[in-house]
Amino acid sequence: MASVTATGPLKKSDSKLQGFQLYETQKAVHEYLQFHYATSEDVMPYARLLTGDSCNEHGLAFPHKLAHVCKAHAPKASSCSVLDLGCAVGGSSFTLATFEQFERVVGVDFSESFVTAARSMQTEQSATYQRLVEGDSYEMATAKLTDVQKQHAHKCQFFIGDACTVTAAEAGGEPFDVILMANLLCRVPDPAKLLANAKALLRRGGDGVVVIASPYSWTEAFTQKDRWVGGYDDESGKFVDSDSKLRDAMAAHGFELVETTDMPFVIREHRRKFQLGISSVHVYVLR
Ligand SMILES: C[S@@+](CC[C@H](N)C(=O)[O-])C[C@H]1O[C@@H](n2cnc3c(N)ncnc32)[C@H](O)[C@@H]1O
Repeated sequence: MASVTATGPLKKSDSKLQGFQLYETQKAVHEYLQFHYATSEDVMPYARLLTGDSCNEHGLAFPHKLAHVCKAHAPKASSCSVLDLGCAVGGSSFTLATFEQFERVVGVDFSESFVTAARSMQTEQSATYQRLVEGDSYEMATAKLTDVQKQHAHKCQFFIGDACTVTAAEAGGEPFDVILMANLLCRVPDPAKLLANAKALLRRGGDGVVVIASPYSWTEAFTQKDRWVGGYDDESGKFVDSDSKLRDAMAAHGFELVETTDMPFVIREHRRKFQLGISSVHVYVLR
């Protein structure tokens, strides 16, 4: 295993609290009380989703599983276009391109670095990256397109843009038949604007589809609280849940919710620590 030097210790400004100080907080006390004393079912009610014989059945391959959801719900026309809003480094886009019916696949992301990496995956078909082994030791790893993704990667285009304001013209031309927004909703400053823009980006006259996946990780680091789509208690103390609030917001734009599912995702922090999220996946059709 080739080890490389880490780029350096985290800067103080990267986090307000470091090391042991984290364990002095009330937040940590609450987390650890749950960790040590709650039942397994309480801690991880989705455990059943993590079992399965192949990686397609559990928390890995999240970007690719979402591409399959888009394919399953795409309008039945022989040629469709699909927009991956907040595409990051393009994982879903390259799988979307492998499906016959998607003739045009566009990925848009705010991050220039992510779009550069997606474009590089398209031209080079692989990229090397560093990953944390443990402590401050890193190793090199390689991200690769699969053979089938390589065959169809030419269908993809990647653009830098703001998902809340980007127009079809800025995203390469005509409006889209299908839009995927994977784990984007709670990462934009104005989710309502994002939903309105998704409608504006859809082709009229067909059964346009919007697939929204979100773990509803609302935080004021990304979205002012008065703009959250759920995840708070109202004036009477009643919990406003994000699933219902999102469904209502989409209904106001003329969308019908046709499928919901829970989809786990696992983000590796180091070889012995993983971030597990469960995105709520909603499939909407514009009526
Ligand atoms: C949590 S990541 C999800 C990435 C990817 N869709 C996935 O599921 O792995 C959120 C992504 O949204 C992008 N993003 C955040 N705000 C955005 C915006 N206003 N317009 C476009 N992309 C944005 C980020 O750069 C990042 O790639």
